[in-house]
Amino acid sequence: MRNFGEFQDAIYTAGIGGEQPRFPFLYSDLKKRAQEILDPRIFDYVSRGSGNGLTQTKNVEAFQTYGIMPRMLRDRSVRDLSVTLFGRKLANPIYVAPVGVLGAVHPEGDLETAKAATKLGVPLICSTLSACRMEETRAASKGNLDFFQLYPPNDPELSEHFVTRALNAGFDGIVITVDTGQLGWRPHDLQKASLPMHYGQCLANYTSDPAFWRLAGVRSEEELTIEKKVTTWDRYFSDPTFSWDHVKKIRAMTKLPLLIKGICAPEDARKAIDCGVDGIICSNHGGRQANGGIPALDSLEDVIEAVPNHPVLFDSGVRTGVDIVKALALGATMVGIGRPYVYGVALGGQAGVEFVLQCLLAEADLTLGVDCYASIAELREYGLKRVEFLSTHSEGLV
Ligand SMILES: Cc1cc2nc3c(=O)[nH]c(=O)nc-3n(C[C@H](O)[C@H](O)[C@H](O)COP(=O)(O)O)c2cc1C
Repeated sequence: MRNFGEFQDAIYTAGIGGEQPRFPFLYSDLKKRAQEILDPRIFDYVSRGSGNGLTQTKNVEAFQTYGIMPRMLRDRSVRDLSVTLFGRKLANPIYVAPVGVLGAVHPEGDLETAKAATKLGVPLICSTLSACRMEETRAASKGNLDFFQLYPPNDPELSEHFVTRALNAGFDGIVITVDTGQLGWRPHDLQKASLPMHYGQCLANYTSDPAFWRLAGVRSEEELTIEKKVTTWDRYFSDPTFSWDHVKKIRAMTKLPLLIKGICAPEDARKAIDCGVDGIICSNHGGRQANGGIPALDSLEDVIEAVPNHPVLFDSGVRTGVDIVKALALGATMVGIGRPYVYGVALGGQAGVEFVLQCLLAEADLTLGVDCYASIAELREYGLKRVEFLSTHSEGLV
């Protein structure tokens, strides 16, 4: 395939033979179809955010405060959407953001996602919260650029084990998520008094680790009752004292790329680089953690300006290929996909994730093509204009 947009030609061509697409194209339909098949407690866990959902909504609406300026009659036959991350050239500018409940959304959610990302060459960030062990996920994504995402637990040995295991498993780097020192206030989960992990779901990295067994007072995985798993996880999942000194300790464990996810303040981005971190993920966790109202996209330019010599990846609120184009135009090194692919995995495992990622890439590419930008560099030169809200209608978009 020369351009990602050719995905649409394949669909129209199949249509001539009577073949209809298996999955929906619009995000709102994707979400609706996922809602029809998912257990309501899982659907709410995925789809809702913290507090009244203001930050989550604003994340999405923020993209509407930019418009892309079309240019005309310039050669756009081949579009270059490639980027370079830590010396590795990648054909596309998106990555799969870490999501901790893929195994609750689909029985093989972690592996199906890993296979889809690997097939398409889309980098993957694997969550600490996973229904299969990180070693298994890594085995399913051989050759792909994959990072292990660490939720720093409240026990130094367990934390060290997670990092060491990730390095031994062959991950290409570590992402430390720093916006989850404690779980945010999530009324929809509270209303059901439900967290997937309290059903013992997605704890495989913990339950397979000898440090976790020690914390649970057992000697092997077999001895872990559901109650022991859940109470131990509850107690040690997060570390509200996690600080820059802890980051430096993890830095000292590896020379592989280290990224920090959950940064919005430029001062924090600079601090991270001072601690030896290699890259920043500007994100507010899709509005699931703190409901402060500020959309993550509004922080992106300032964060990039604060650390001009380091990659700044972005996620939170990306729903369409056009959103990808806008985040790239603002300077993001790569753009992370969250909830859309989770609905994809719910609907069709690997095929569902592939479909969602291919649609996003095709729309991004065709947007560049129609607007006559042949590369991200060209787009950055001219492409973006700040506008009034194009619409305040966000129903179905979030
Ligand atoms: C259900 C769900 C679970 C998530 N789990 C994790 C996680 O385990 N680790 C992490 O760093 N971020 C996690 N995130 C945040 C995503 O990595 C990403 O920041 C977020 O989905 C972006 O927002 P969006 O989905 O609205 O675009 C999770 C997000 C969702 C929706």
